Amino acid sequence: MSLDLSAIKSDFPIFQQKVHGNKDLVYLDSAATSQKPNQVIDALTHFYRTSNGGIHRGSHALAERATMLYEDARSNIASFIGAEANEIVFTKNATESINLVAYSFSNATAKKQQGHALSDIEARFVVGPNDEILLTEMEHHANLVPWQELHLKTGVQLKFIPITDDGYLDLETIDTLISERTKIVSIVHQSNILGTINQVEKIFAQAKKVGALTLLDSCQSVPHMPVDVSQLNPDFMAFSGHKMLGPNGVGVLYVKSDILQDLSVFITGGSMIEVVHLEHSSYAKGVARFEAGTQSAADVVGLSAAVDYLRKIDMQNVHEHGLDLTQYALEKLQESRGVKIVGPQTMKERGSAISFVVDDIHPHDVGQFLDADGIAVRVGHHCAWPVCRRMAVPATTRASFYIYNQKSDVDVMIESLQKAQKFFGV
Ligand code: ALA
Repeated sequence: MSLDLSAIKSDFPIFQQKVHGNKDLVYLDSAATSQKPNQVIDALTHFYRTSNGGIHRGSHALAERATMLYEDARSNIASFIGAEANEIVFTKNATESINLVAYSFSNATAKKQQGHALSDIEARFVVGPNDEILLTEMEHHANLVPWQELHLKTGVQLKFIPITDDGYLDLETIDTLISERTKIVSIVHQSNILGTINQVEKIFAQAKKVGALTLLDSCQSVPHMPVDVSQLNPDFMAFSGHKMLGPNGVGVLYVKSDILQDLSVFITGGSMIEVVHLEHSSYAKGVARFEAGTQSAADVVGLSAAVDYLRKIDMQNVHEHGLDLTQYALEKLQESRGVKIVGPQTMKERGSAISFVVDDIHPHDVGQFLDADGIAVRVGHHCAWPVCRRMAVPATTRASFYIYNQKSDVDVMIESLQKAQKFFGV
């Protein structure tokens, strides 16, 4: 089904403005952050106007209403990804979600070193130099740097599934990379820079055979396609609200319920406790153990409104629209003189982020030129520097699409690229 693009676009007030004087805004940077529809902006302001109160810590009407909205949002967001409400932890963003998991390892390891008793679940998170964490060469920094820190603290070894020259994961290697030493396999679902959609089922099945935990970084997939944890079966899944029409400052960590019960805590303080003494405390059960301090309740409610908005369009339609635009943009870029796509050249296992380089023009110059025409793209290493090194490019220009984009946006970009080539004399 094709989307009602003009109705969708009119929901996004940001498109009512002109940029650089008189240029229509062509926003091709949704992989960095998406724009927000009125429905989300209204949910935020409505919360602050009518329902703001301290969640989980007050007995007055507003505190109760705010708590109810927050917990309803948790159930709504859980069902969007096929999870239960008691498996959804709210964080600041996907980066914090992945840090929570990495810290579970270093915290369990430190507790063991101090001679503290560990639960069976916590024991799975104890690591040392004989253990391995399996990542891929395709990770963005959020799913790389936290594990590098874990290596520095515990000596655990980092291994990587390589990328093939055409931008896919080399799955031939997984039999040798996954072994009894592997403690967690943490991989990106859709690459933010190459656009590759990874076939995670095979990798996770192999990981489970050796008892390794699994984490899916779904920052670029949950906003763009149906993602169901009951099918993909990860132990953890991380994504950010701001890339899926939601507010900045709210992320999600899905944790399978049997693991969540005994996972080591991360950020500690108020609201995550059961009983507190001067020298020791016991902690709340369930997701509350991971939500210390005053949570960003309005943003959670805003993310729930974003989920309602996407659900109404239907995620399969969102996905098909993204694929349609991506196919069109791939063809147009491939027809363009002096333009090379970095990543899969066809629609096989590919989503809506396209990186490219233009011969003899630095990506930063391309970005600046496009910006002057009102076109927002991202340039640089896209917080995935090792991917650029692997693909032998210092940086790329990236166009990424969402529900408010149409084929004419691609045409405007191609036209501006041609103008840039003329301007730079290449
Ligand atoms: N991962 C984000 C991006 O791709 C920051 O732009």
